[in-house]
Amino acid sequence: MFICICHAITEKDIAAAVEQGAGTMKELREQLNVASQCGKCVQFAKNILTDMTVNYDLAAEAA
Ligand code: FES
Repeated sequence: MFICICHAITEKDIAAAVEQGAGTMKELREQLNVASQCGKCVQFAKNILTDMTVNYDLAAEAA
């Protein structure tokens, strides 16, 4: 599903960036340009980032 229409960035693109180390919106913006034009995707991108980082933290604690 497209998250950022301005730059054709999908949820999978954001997930891949987080898996490669992006941990903040600033880092996501630097890597993907997400939320760098109209800004309507900011909250969606933040939600994905938060969900993924929380899940990674839980997985790391379980390991
Ligand atoms: S939808 Fe992402 S910057 Fe416009």
